[in-house]
Amino acid sequence: MSNTPADGQAAAAADHHTPVLLGRCLELLAPAFTVPEPVMIDCTLGMGGHAEGALERFPQLTLVGIDRDPQAIALASARLARFGHRFRAVRATYDAVDAIAAEASRRPDGTVDAVLMDLGVSSLQLDDADRGFSYAHPAPLDMRMDQSAGRTAQDIVDTADEQELTRILRDYGEERFAARIAAAIVRRRSAGSPVTSTAELSELVRASIPAAARRRGGHPAKRTFQALRIAVNGELQLLERALPRALNSLRVGGRLVVESYQSLEDRIVKRVLAAGATSGAPADLPVVPDDLQPYLELLTHGAQKADAAELEANPRSASVRLRAAVRTRPVGQAPAPNHDAYAPAGNTRGRNCR
Ligand SMILES: C[S@@+](CC[C@H](N)C(=O)[O-])C[C@H]1O[C@@H](n2cnc3c(N)ncnc32)[C@H](O)[C@@H]1O
Repeated sequence: MSNTPADGQAAAAADHHTPVLLGRCLELLAPAFTVPEPVMIDCTLGMGGHAEGALERFPQLTLVGIDRDPQAIALASARLARFGHRFRAVRATYDAVDAIAAEASRRPDGTVDAVLMDLGVSSLQLDDADRGFSYAHPAPLDMRMDQSAGRTAQDIVDTADEQELTRILRDYGEERFAARIAAAIVRRRSAGSPVTSTAELSELVRASIPAAARRRGGHPAKRTFQALRIAVNGELQLLERALPRALNSLRVGGRLVVESYQSLEDRIVKRVLAAGATSGAPADLPVVPDDLQPYLELLTHGAQKADAAELEANPRSASVRLRAAVRTRPVGQAPAPNHDAYAPAGNTRGRNCR
């Protein structure tokens, strides 16, 4: 039997990536798949590692995988083609999860049995030097998960004023030296030699922070690259929008599992799940009306981390924080978090459902 280019791509995708906490995710999702012909939405298909694990372990499962990155869609589609009609890929941002779930649902109310979110960038994206996600590879400053649209990291570095750059680096990178780095970026622009590559940005960050700080907390450019990536892709705004929609897409007994890799994401997940697992009634109300009862039960108490065996097998699991919940009652709407702490900073195009 001869190998096609797609087979090669699929094999490369499989080689590239070990799904983080796969066994734990499947264990948490399993009770949702005891119904006939269960349906799951994987909001972050990536290279299809979690999706493949779920499709293999649950033979009745149908899975719809969402990703905004056309390269991920192509690779995962080739890898998962062997599952035939049990798998479908949708190129979209994951805040379209409710519409995609309604389309995939086997129930009149449009609900599904499980939603998985494995947030952030994939190792394929990080390792592709040309995409500019990594301070370790010299590349143009792109950082878009979907390279067909939206502003790049270069656009932000070229056009955001010093105040906006400081805000991005501080709010999305939790960078102590945000103001110094922003000032240095703007100085380079004013001098007619703007930063134009990952290597230049990385060096500028290193030179902008005090020598003592360079030796602490990992690579000095790590937080700046995280901040720009979050801004470019509107990551936190999309997550804020997507979580209530994902929860509202679950039947009673349906399960949500979320893996986060940095504290800003994990805080949003923690807050939304805690709100759903808490009564919305004032403490002194003698009888809590149905619509103020909690609608979630937490399956994880605190965030779960990778154990030593996982860390050894997969160093990228070092920062993972896993949270999961089960839907306990059908409410019309899980209220969206009522603050917009992450007001427009980047590409907030929202739905991009194709
Ligand atoms: C960590 S990877 C997922 C890896 C995947 N679980 C696997 O096992 O191969 C995250 C993926 O989610 C995608 N992604 C991130 N944010 C997204 C969003 N807002 N909407 C859709 N896809 C998104 C990225 O393009 C990336 O491919």
